[in-house]
Amino acid sequence: MKPLTITSRLEVYESLDEIPPAIQDLMKSAIKVRDNAYAPYSLFKVGAALLLDNDEIVVGSNQENASYPSGLCAERTAVFAAGAQYPGSHILKIAISAKSMKHKVVSPVPPCGACRQALVEYEVKQEEPIEIYFMGETGKVVKAESVKDLLPLVFDNSCL
Ligand code: THU
Repeated sequence: MKPLTITSRLEVYESLDEIPPAIQDLMKSAIKVRDNAYAPYSLFKVGAALLLDNDEIVVGSNQENASYPSGLCAERTAVFAAGAQYPGSHILKIAISAKSMKHKVVSPVPPCGACRQALVEYEVKQEEPIEIYFMGETGKVVKAESVKDLLPLVFDNSCL
């Protein structure tokens, strides 16, 4: 037996004001589109904004369904829209913000496991990491240099 230690390096910013202005703008796009979430069941609204290498910003918000599993998270709504509209472009960055209709979300909200898996597929496809920034409604912003930092032991096409 050999132990395997896996480490990830994340950066934690005290607030939106502390991150670089260009990322603040991307996060503001995520915050804006968060209002378009259709979340009558969870009352939890998430917005995601992607910056592509063609300078386009593609956004998404969570879209729920009475048949719960038929809904989709904000991150995958955005990433699939980017893939559909700009199939040749690389995704450089993603900013994510979440807000609850029930309480103030003051802690950073990371993407769910399924969204990490969907995002990492594009990192593998484009052979370039996607920088990821996530936050709640207010408070700290967490940055990872790559989705792989949030998804160690990734399952990708090399496993098939
Ligand atoms: N949700 C997202 O949009 N992104 C995530 O990464 C986590 C969860 C949505 C799905 C559902 O509409 C609501 O938040 C509560 O889980």
